[in-house]
Amino acid sequence: MRAMLVLGIETSCDETGLAVYDSAAGIRAEVLHSQVDLHADYGGVVPELASRDHVRKIKPLTDSVLADAGIDLEALDAVAYTAGPGLMGALLVGATFGRTLAWALDVPAIEVHHMEAHLLAPLLAEGEAPQLPFVALLVSGGHTQLVLVKAFGDYELLGESLDDAAGEAFDKAAKMMDLGYPGGPQIARKAEQGNGARFDFPRPMTDRPGLDFSFSGLKTFTLNTVNAHSPLAEQDICDIAAAFEAAVVDTLFIKCRRAMEETGATDLVLAGGVSANTALRKKLESNLPANVHYAPLALCTDNGAMIAYAGALRLEAGQTAPLSINPRPRWPMFELPPLEA
Ligand code: KG4
Ligand code: ZN
Repeated sequence: MRAMLVLGIETSCDETGLAVYDSAAGIRAEVLHSQVDLHADYGGVVPELASRDHVRKIKPLTDSVLADAGIDLEALDAVAYTAGPGLMGALLVGATFGRTLAWALDVPAIEVHHMEAHLLAPLLAEGEAPQLPFVALLVSGGHTQLVLVKAFGDYELLGESLDDAAGEAFDKAAKMMDLGYPGGPQIARKAEQGNGARFDFPRPMTDRPGLDFSFSGLKTFTLNTVNAHSPLAEQDICDIAAAFEAAVVDTLFIKCRRAMEETGATDLVLAGGVSANTALRKKLESNLPANVHYAPLALCTDNGAMIAYAGALRLEAGQTAPLSINPRPRWPMFELPPLEA
């Protein structure tokens, strides 16, 4: 089959990401605009501001990614965009732009599932492919899920968070200590200077069977600790960050170990924004009798490259979008058709 050029568009939350994926040569170009500064004062993403900024950035970023790839619009073989899950207004921008562009160029459009794109991102980088079936830990700002990947596109939910996502817990803990948004990288930085043994934070739901998670109790525990030691000195912040991070990492590790034992899988794929966390990567790599796979840092958080790549795989499987525009804020990954015919 001749090489295909797929434009990928990501606008599900607070990053506008565009990339051109070449099925023969890999990622040809990618651009990313982060809205972090726009939302910084609010301690979290403001949906209406996010949508408006995607509207402003999507066309200029499309021009620049095509220029970087050295191609014209007419060279594209398909346009892939995140159709869900995510913020409705933000998704609408990418889906409307992407679907319309594909129609105007008379090429297929592909609706990409954001979490499947995260899951596939480690495969985009060089390296050994995970052995099927494998377990995936998907940890982002909106999701915390353990998934059994029986084949690409054939996913079984093993467990998920009953309340906050792991990334959301990082963001909220950071906000309690005025560390800025997004909180994950800030907490991780402070934790490096902290004494994790000073505070003993709970490991929620690890003493009961099952693979579900809950992070809201940990959030309350963090708030109580912050209040008990306010005003916080720099060392207090570092120590609380270290104890918090250790609790999240341990909790994720314990559930991953259980999932590996229960399924008999040999490989674990770590994906989503929180998979950028070094302490989590180290803990899993050093303590699990498993091959642990994860993406390079830039491919862990939201980006256009993973959307273009997931779109190319769905295109190869002949799965293209109808003419209608269907953003899906909620979209269980388990409803996807298998990728291999
Ligand atoms: O996948 P992502 O970019 O967006 C969503 O799909 O949600 O994930 C963003 C989340 C944020 O909650 C952010 O705090 C967290 O990933 N994150 C981290 C790190 N880098 C990003 N959490 C912990 N440690 C990090 N180094
Ligand atoms: Zn994401």
